[in-house]
Amino acid sequence: MVDLGVELAGLRLDNPVIPSSGTFGYGEDYAGLYDLNILGSIALKGTTAEPRRGNPLPRIAECEGGMLNSIGLQNPGVDAVADELLPALKAHFNKKVIANACGFSTEEYVYVAKRFDACDNVGLIELNVSCPNVSGRSVGGDPNALFKLVSEVRKHVSKPLLIKLSPLAADLSEIAAAAIEGGADGFTLINSPTGMRIDPVRRSPVLANGRGGMSGKMVFPLALRAVYDVYSRFRVPVIGVGGISSAEDVVEMMLAGAAAVEVGAANLVDPFACKKIIESLGPTLERFGFSSAREVVGLAAQTSKT
Ligand code: FUM
Repeated sequence: MVDLGVELAGLRLDNPVIPSSGTFGYGEDYAGLYDLNILGSIALKGTTAEPRRGNPLPRIAECEGGMLNSIGLQNPGVDAVADELLPALKAHFNKKVIANACGFSTEEYVYVAKRFDACDNVGLIELNVSCPNVSGRSVGGDPNALFKLVSEVRKHVSKPLLIKLSPLAADLSEIAAAAIEGGADGFTLINSPTGMRIDPVRRSPVLANGRGGMSGKMVFPLALRAVYDVYSRFRVPVIGVGGISSAEDVVEMMLAGAAAVEVGAANLVDPFACKKIIESLGPTLERFGFSSAREVVGLAAQTSKT
């Protein structure tokens, strides 16, 4: 019997499979489909201080091998999440969740992170500095700005703090180093890189916002490379996310250094994707000669000469 348990920044998970932020809401829509307690954790929708309606429609476009989204951080605001949705989720999920904290200023990030830090069913905070669908300069692409932000948030938060980064930085190691120096415990890699589609009939972008975040199988190698690079260099806890749709993908991501994985676009194709991956993870690990999930973490990175 393969032991699927893993440790993620001090949090013990029954298995490494977590639905990713933005593809599972606050858990409520999936609760009627299967027992959510089979999941390792749940990453909540990116949440800001105030409620947001998000970007104009259309904000989804299909692509070969994946999709684009330009949701624009639609969410009910952190007070509603902390006071209503997180307590309500306890009826369906008796484990700790991952809270995805967003903001447009240091003060906003601190407010959102502090509110989540005080929630007893939040296990760790994923600081989202890389949303592809909102305007303004991304803090996640600027090492100095990121260092300042993480240092400030760290002062107010006692739970583990993982920083969710875009893979598009010219030097991801420099960005990651700044976050660690600021007090980050680890990373979620990757957020969706931006892309676009153009409708030849209308001669204009398919998405009302023009561009959107790419997800699905097409981004898996990009995500894997980011996890590999950051884990190889820093040996810190990493959640791997981007195009994972099978137990084999989970193993590959863990070999690169992911302590756990988030499954995103696959949930939108098949709402039972996480359940199916968890059910096949044990036999898949066994097939590759492993007796536990945790022994896989970083094996490829550790043997790398690069
Ligand atoms: O548009 C969105 O809400 C996406 C957020 C994200 O990818 O972080």
